[in-house]
Amino acid sequence: MARCFCRWCNVLFCLCTLCICLALLFIYISVMVCMSMNGGAQKSLETLHFVASGTCKNKNFASHPKAFWEVTPDRDAFWNQLQLAIDRHFNPILRPNNTKRRSENSNIHESLLRKSYSEVTNLDSTKRNFDELPQEMQDFVRHMQRRDYPTLIQPDGVCGAGAKDEKEPVMLLLAIKTTKLNFQNRQAIRQTWGQAGWVAGKMSNRNGGEEAGGYVRRVFLLGKEESQELDEALLQLLQIESNLYEDILQWDFNDTFFNLTLKDVLFWSWFSHFCSQTRFVFKGDDDVFLNTPKMINYLQDQLKKPQAHKTIKDFMVGDVIDVAIPIRVNNSKYFIPDSFYKGFYPPYAGGGGVVYSGLLIKRLHYMSKRVHMFPIDDVFVGMCMIRLNAYPVHHPAFLTFDFPEKEGEELCAYHTILLVHKRSPTEVVRLWTDMKKTQRQCWDVPLRAADKNKIKQTL
Ligand SMILES: *[C@@H]1O[C@H](CO)[C@@H](O)[C@H](O)[C@H]1NC(C)=O
Ligand SMILES: *[C@@H]1O[C@H](CO)[C@@H](O)[C@H](O)[C@H]1NC(C)=O
Ligand SMILES: *[C@@H]1O[C@H](CO)[C@@H](O)[C@H](O)[C@H]1NC(C)=O
Ligand SMILES: *[C@@H]1O[C@H](CO)[C@@H](O)[C@H](O)[C@H]1NC(C)=O
Repeated sequence: MARCFCRWCNVLFCLCTLCICLALLFIYISVMVCMSMNGGAQKSLETLHFVASGTCKNKNFASHPKAFWEVTPDRDAFWNQLQLAIDRHFNPILRPNNTKRRSENSNIHESLLRKSYSEVTNLDSTKRNFDELPQEMQDFVRHMQRRDYPTLIQPDGVCGAGAKDEKEPVMLLLAIKTTKLNFQNRQAIRQTWGQAGWVAGKMSNRNGGEEAGGYVRRVFLLGKEESQELDEALLQLLQIESNLYEDILQWDFNDTFFNLTLKDVLFWSWFSHFCSQTRFVFKGDDDVFLNTPKMINYLQDQLKKPQAHKTIKDFMVGDVIDVAIPIRVNNSKYFIPDSFYKGFYPPYAGGGGVVYSGLLIKRLHYMSKRVHMFPIDDVFVGMCMIRLNAYPVHHPAFLTFDFPEKEGEELCAYHTILLVHKRSPTEVVRLWTDMKKTQRQCWDVPLRAADKNKIKQTL
């Protein structure tokens, strides 16, 4: 009798334990569901951001939408409408076949761009909005389909001006955006940070005679002057300059602000033809100061990293702007009306220049054929990057807005940076001489780390 009672006790005990476990499990699941619903609500606000195909590595930025079939509220803006059809075509969920088809050539991409352009521009709503766009933007929209501008002057079958007998692949190609009139800027760059040839990185005496460094090449990217008389007058001068230095790459389009994106697109195409061995490219303005020796060191460090063979194909570094919104003030140079583009910009490297890998350029060249031109060149690059699922890396040694107070006067200041924006040709020459003088004392100072002053300003 007692034994029987005991057995019932055991059964009861087991059942109770099971019940308690189930109850706990229920509570746990309920809590989790509630939490994820709240989180989901917040996230769905975030997904109103710029939306692109491909997954997002950056947690701060919107991921691709949970419900990919949802109508995005941004679709009534001109550029968003243009791009929507293309992004849908390559959406791996909506059209699995299109993304798998590896053999798809660029002709198909171009015809897709043309098709979406003619569809959207024929809409009545677009026609109505078009007249309200500022004059330059109307001009941009009229010509944004065209990309096949011929080259007028180019280096003779080589990847820019360099050393005659390079013994290893080019480490860094300097691709500098300039205009015909900025002859002085080009001359200052040629004599200073843009010298082609071997650039020594680490001081050889410290490495026991081991020579570290890399070959540097240089090319200037130009369009035509807007006024025809000026353009013709300067043509001969530019031709002489080209014969002398072999570093001029000029295309047959008007060199205006909204045409700068063409410089990227056409440069990528030229690069893919002529620069197969080049490891890295600096692309920037002709009014910056670049610390080339430190840059060579920095890039060599990137190549030595353990996972380099994987990371280099995505490599882009600069002053990165993470979640920017278009400027809606109509007297700004960067003004983008919301009838043209809605949503956030993707992360992009702005300021005076960026450095990216040759491998990435080839991928960008391919991807650029699936993205409609955008009037702001840095943003366009960002749009191509996000579609490659690649993200630019921020480095505080790229100074878009100069040194914080007084810091620039310190003896070794210019040895701590990779780039600083807005320096006149005379300043560039003076800074370069100063840097050579302080080379020995300052060589070991590290590059600028996190920008404390910037954080203070935003607080
Ligand atoms: C995708 O490809 C498969 C086989 O290649 C084909 O049977 C199918 O109809 C295609 N689907 C679409 C939506 O084109
Ligand atoms: C270049 O710009 C000028 C001035 O805006 C204009 O007169 C000229 O027609 C343009 N050239 C081309 C090829 O569009
Ligand atoms: C870009 O260049 C082309 C060719 O010169 C010109 O027709 C067009 O007007 C330019 N676009 C802008 C926005 O200036
Ligand atoms: C800029 O905007 C203001 C007010 O929003 C308007 O009065 C002005 O005409 C605009 N200017 C241009 C050039 O569109």
